[in-house]
Amino acid sequence: MRSVSLLSALAAVTAVQAGAVKPRQTKITPVTAKGNAFYVGNQRFYVRGVDYQPGGSSANLDPLADPDVCKPDIEKFIKLGINVIRVYSTDNAKDHTECMNLLADAGIYVVLDANNPLYSINREKPAPSYNAEYLQSVFATIDEFAKYDNTMAFFSGNEVIHDLVETTRAARFVKAVTRDMRQYIRTRFNRQILVGYSAADVQENRMQTAAYFNCGPDDERSDFFAFNDYSWCTSNFITSGWDKKVQNFTDYGLPIFLSEYGCIQNVRDFGELESLMHSNMTSVYSGGLMYEYTYEENKYGIVTIDDKAQKGPRKELPEFANFAKAMKDFPAPAGDGGASPTTHSQPCPTKDAHWDVDSTLLPAMPEGAKKYLTDGAGKGPGLNGPGSQNSGPAEVEDAAPGSGAGGGNGNTNKNAATKGRMDNASLFVSGAVLVATLMGAVAL
Ligand SMILES: *[C@@H]1O[C@H](CO)[C@@H](O)[C@H](O)[C@H]1NC(C)=O
Ligand SMILES: *[C@@H]1O[C@H](CO)[C@@H](O)[C@H](O)[C@H]1NC(C)=O
Ligand SMILES: *[C@@H]1O[C@H](CO)[C@@H](O)[C@H](O)[C@H]1NC(C)=O
Repeated sequence: MRSVSLLSALAAVTAVQAGAVKPRQTKITPVTAKGNAFYVGNQRFYVRGVDYQPGGSSANLDPLADPDVCKPDIEKFIKLGINVIRVYSTDNAKDHTECMNLLADAGIYVVLDANNPLYSINREKPAPSYNAEYLQSVFATIDEFAKYDNTMAFFSGNEVIHDLVETTRAARFVKAVTRDMRQYIRTRFNRQILVGYSAADVQENRMQTAAYFNCGPDDERSDFFAFNDYSWCTSNFITSGWDKKVQNFTDYGLPIFLSEYGCIQNVRDFGELESLMHSNMTSVYSGGLMYEYTYEENKYGIVTIDDKAQKGPRKELPEFANFAKAMKDFPAPAGDGGASPTTHSQPCPTKDAHWDVDSTLLPAMPEGAKKYLTDGAGKGPGLNGPGSQNSGPAEVEDAAPGSGAGGGNGNTNKNAATKGRMDNASLFVSGAVLVATLMGAVAL
């Protein structure tokens, strides 16, 4: 939390000035979901990317709001040959035209976390954190990024559900947010942007979490599922247990990718990519994001930036060349990789020792947030606003099943039929506990 007030003052100024700049037409074709895979046009699309969080989670810095930060990194991304970055923190009061266009020019798509530390679901007290101020921030982030064709997806939550069983109670709220984001996108925009959850690397509830985010009526299901996985430690497809994770997720019914991967216990050769791009996995998984690009206290990165403002020279660590080599040695396969053309839901998980959710009903969208569906979100609060985690009531009413807005049938807007779920796919994201703990990511 550095220079908090200065940053927000700057943010306000930048946003006003930037309003005058017209985003230019980029040539990049948006990514869509169909069946259990992603596509660019008719061609299958695999996530072959990195997690991009310069300064680490504690810096809470938006690298896409400042060309002095993103430009030198985009040079490195081109050198690595990646096609997706995940950005954990973005400031919805700022303009992102320059960085997003430079990324589009490089053929790079962006997956964004829609939350930030001040505006997110609190896993310990989820009900009061699900409120109109919070959704205004999430929707303002969607407004800012929906205009860039290389915005591929949003994570509606990151590692909200943890290894403690109590945290599974927050799942209903994250799923409600997913529903609301999807409704907001199909109501307000003429394009598909995928929404899903990024799950923590937790063996005990991974399968329940995956099933939960893909169960129930179509307008409550995600567009994809993602999870974090650190089990491949210079090993192979079998000893890492990834063969089991293929078996377990076979016929899941939605696209899946790894939102973070990359154990650092041994030398990193990024052999994960060989399997991710191999027919052993491609019928079930659509690639993944290597954790992570910048070297931080947790020691995962492949590039050092010796500058708190993240603008200094970039220095490649030996792992940079290793990752670039793996990217080159294991390209995306041709053809459809065995993808399934249709999607389907899963049965909702039942309550047990590791899953403490016994209702399939979701909290209704807060009354005060409904106006955003017709009016838009307006100016976002940025990363340093007053915060929203305690703005709501202690109890939240449930919505009728399938009611995108807590009352209708989720299909009440005039565009729903044409802009709604494309090919019945849904999208989700979640996160990993071990890593969250290592990084001190709390209640995101
Ligand atoms: C696969 O699924 C089974 C049954 O849900 C579960 O017990 C097991 O831990 C899962 N394995 C992996 C690697 O996810
Ligand atoms: C593919 O799976 C087989 C086992 O079915 C395994 O022997 C082989 O090493 C795997 N290859 C890759 C690249 O994952
Ligand atoms: C997906 O939607 C299409 C029409 O858009 C339909 O023909 C198909 O049966 C659906 N598939 C599944 C699995 O629901």
